Amino acid sequence: MMVISSPQELQVWRRSQRGSVGFVPTMGALHMGHIALIEAAKVRNDTVVVSIFVNPTQFLEGEDLLRYPRKYEADERICRLGGVDVLYFPSAEAMYGLDEVRVCAPDVRGYILEGASRPGHFDGVLTVVMKLFNLVRPDQAYFGRKDAQQLSLITQMVRDFFMDVEIVPIDTVREKEGLALSSRNVYLSPQEREEALKLSRALKRCAKLMIQGERRTSVIQAQMRDVCAPLHVNYIAFVNRAFKPLELLEPQNTIVLISANVGSTHLIDNIWL
Ligand code: PAF
Repeated sequence: MMVISSPQELQVWRRSQRGSVGFVPTMGALHMGHIALIEAAKVRNDTVVVSIFVNPTQFLEGEDLLRYPRKYEADERICRLGGVDVLYFPSAEAMYGLDEVRVCAPDVRGYILEGASRPGHFDGVLTVVMKLFNLVRPDQAYFGRKDAQQLSLITQMVRDFFMDVEIVPIDTVREKEGLALSSRNVYLSPQEREEALKLSRALKRCAKLMIQGERRTSVIQAQMRDVCAPLHVNYIAFVNRAFKPLELLEPQNTIVLISANVGSTHLIDNIWL
């Protein structure tokens, strides 16, 4: 595995490649969810690139940029064992200059749900993904369904800017009890982990109600809130695959999203129905 930290060196490497390139962008602290992305990329591509970059522009003032988990040595080992060909690990200075051009998230879809409480977050995500795509020039890029709004906005950016990359969504990986894997789970105390399980339990309740024939999102939402009580839920939302809000569930075309803060940890989860 090659480890590259300079954008120019990565570009030189990319020019030498002939076969298909699969790309897994990450912020490190790799877990089984990332490994699922790497495995999927390996199956379908000649070469796999993983980036590890804790992107400062997607953190708002007061968020967890400084305490975000950094585990470079373990991550490098995971990439080597996972058969990654190139690990891109740049510094913030290598990725950003001063007073730069930026990508803006769309006015509506970028500022609902996660974007409502984290205004500007998706500008940072889209800007760094655009930079990374331009450096890696992947044939396919792999993203987890857990960050459904991010996945949807990146897919839209690729469409809106006529970018020649296929976005491949990969299912969320969960712990046995249901907690969706996230690098931020390391912040949770044992008691908070128990509380965090309410998110996936609420989503399970939603799926059960749908199987029983319930379609009214207002009814489902109320029951999901009961499952979560007394946890403070930031939102429960029902959208179709194009992220339009739904009053009635549409089987095969609904994403149910939930967000809550457990202690000081911001958690999100969702289910694709
Ligand atoms: O999902 C993430 O880890 C990040 O938002 C991403 C896509 C790597 C951009 O920094």
